[in-house]
Amino acid sequence: MQSSSAEFTHQTVLRDEIVEFVREASGSVVVDATLGLGGHSEAILEETGFDVVGIDQDSSAILLAEERLARFGKRFRAVNANFAAIGRSVEESDIAAIVADLGVSSMQLDDASRGFSFRASAPLDMRMDRKEGLSARELLENSTEAEIADILYFYGEEKRSRRIARWITERNDAGQPLTTTDELADLVERAIGRRPGDKIHPATRTFQALRIAVNRELDVLKEFIPAAIEKLNAGGVLAIISFHSLEDRIVKQAFQRLSGKCSCPPRIPKCICGAEKSVEILTKRPIIPSEDEQEMNPRSRSAKLRACKRLI
Ligand SMILES: C[S@@+](CC[C@H](N)C(=O)[O-])C[C@H]1O[C@@H](n2cnc3c(N)ncnc32)[C@H](O)[C@@H]1O
Repeated sequence: MQSSSAEFTHQTVLRDEIVEFVREASGSVVVDATLGLGGHSEAILEETGFDVVGIDQDSSAILLAEERLARFGKRFRAVNANFAAIGRSVEESDIAAIVADLGVSSMQLDDASRGFSFRASAPLDMRMDRKEGLSARELLENSTEAEIADILYFYGEEKRSRRIARWITERNDAGQPLTTTDELADLVERAIGRRPGDKIHPATRTFQALRIAVNRELDVLKEFIPAAIEKLNAGGVLAIISFHSLEDRIVKQAFQRLSGKCSCPPRIPKCICGAEKSVEILTKRPIIPSEDEQEMNPRSRSAKLRACKRLI
């Protein structure tokens, strides 16, 4: 059955702040690298004179956004691709700004069949692009105990990663690999238990870690930032909203490197890292949602917006 954009909602985070960064940039096109349900694209199309190219790796998001933004006619175009390939997939030039609002949308989380949430029983998939790569089920089945433990520790900051990895591998070895979200949530809860006073479900970190690994979220973000800067006009703006510390650290360090901050070890007498100043950082500290926005949209609480401007 075809879904319509009216069935799904996603409250756009830091909407006005993104429009403010974009508004002053010079050029004719803005790229929304994480189109989702088209909230930021819609704001830019409504409040500025720019055309918008929206990228999303999820073909269902593309269909919903195209329906929502149809009224803008030729001012909007959607591209079904990974934003890491922005250099190849956006043929437009004269790009004033590129914006990205990382992670999954509420539409993806709420669609139980996608397997992102432990709140409903669904196949363990978690791929944003269902045509590419291994699902979470395949990843768990094809990884060693040490590899699973590393994924949970590094991407989920899960302190009890080894124990969970052992329980998962025992199921693989017994010929009963996990196939659904509720089987995984139940296994994690039994493996590490619930601590009194825990505000989050014991499987929250495991689900975050697997989603990041399945979609190679940190690797593609590292590829995306320099490729996005390459695409911008001189004076163009790159603005990125992240939702957890792993992503924010990557954005912060990439911006610092591009702004010419030397990353050589302190004892080296002469700079050998080749740092060159190609951007100016526009956000000394990340911008966070106002108290009102956080109250109205609890998902926005962890959002951090960083922006930089291309110099040459
Ligand atoms: C948080 S949502 C964006 C919501 C949108 N700004 C709005 O207000 O409606 C993130 C979207 O980016 C997409 N996405 C995440 N990583 C991506 C990547 N590497 N390449 C392309 N799309 C990506 C997801 O599929 C999802 O639809």
